[in-house]
Amino acid sequence: MPRFDNQTVLVTGGTGGQGSSHVRAFHAEGANVVIGGIDAERGAALVDELGTRALFTHLDVRDESSWSAAVHAAESAFGALNVLVNNAGVQNPPAPIEQTDPATWSRILDVNLTGTFLGIKVATPALRRAVGGAIVNIASTMALGGTAHYAPYVASKWAVRGLTRTAALELGRDNIRVNTIHPGVIATPFIHEPAAGATTAIADFYSPAPFAIPRLGEPTDVTRLLLFLASSDAAFITGSEYVIDGGLLLGPALQAETA
Ligand SMILES: NC(=O)c1ccc[n+]([C@@H]2O[C@H](COP(=O)([O-])OP(=O)(O)OC[C@H]3O[C@@H](n4cnc5c(N)ncnc54)[C@H](O)[C@@H]3O)[C@@H](O)[C@H]2O)c1
Repeated sequence: MPRFDNQTVLVTGGTGGQGSSHVRAFHAEGANVVIGGIDAERGAALVDELGTRALFTHLDVRDESSWSAAVHAAESAFGALNVLVNNAGVQNPPAPIEQTDPATWSRILDVNLTGTFLGIKVATPALRRAVGGAIVNIASTMALGGTAHYAPYVASKWAVRGLTRTAALELGRDNIRVNTIHPGVIATPFIHEPAAGATTAIADFYSPAPFAIPRLGEPTDVTRLLLFLASSDAAFITGSEYVIDGGLLLGPALQAETA
């Protein structure tokens, strides 16, 4: 039986990249999907593709009133909200900290951190009305170490970890689980297109060749883990963090020469 029959799932940044993979998979497993995003054209195309049980709602995650409207749209269309995926995210143009202007810092923190905070805040009453559910926050392997020239992004994703743990403690008694996924390098526009204000993309200088599983991650790799965490199969998992990176954090898979 599909795992998400009669459930409603809101995915932020759901119109492309990993977000649209998540939307398609939840829908295929029976969910009503609410595609939250800022790209109305792509949102409409995805709704057309899915045909039924799908709704696009304009959702700029930086804006609390936009969140209220999205949660209201979910409950009005489908009767309840059961799962929130805080997926929307932006990266900074690479630069050392001493050359990072405060406007860039704030822009990245506003989407990646404040957006996630607002999502948890505004969706919580709806998840409670649904008598429980799940929140999954998408952070990054960059939330587990330092990465030169990505200070705003790294700091924002580290902070999502603290937010996840705190929300998990606050909401566990309401049967609302909160977890984080840390993707490695996943083949989406995020790595193939330069960040706003940048001229090079991550894919221009990153090669997966040295790592244990020598390929880029696919959005569906992350989707499968996400669906597990959002489902009742993960009923006893909250406040946890899951790395999905093909072994990137292990370091290079150097092999000794053997005779
Ligand atoms: N691709 C990777 O290698 C990688 C690695 C680790 C973590 N991540 C994280 O995964 C998530 C998804 O990224 P992706 O790889 O699909 O990249 P992507 O650039 O394809 O998608 C990001 C999405 O966020 C949306 N977005 C940006 N600002 C927004 C706002 N203010 N309000 C609402 N939506 C907004 C964009 O429209 C887009 O749909 C992000 O949180 C990103 O930080 C990506």
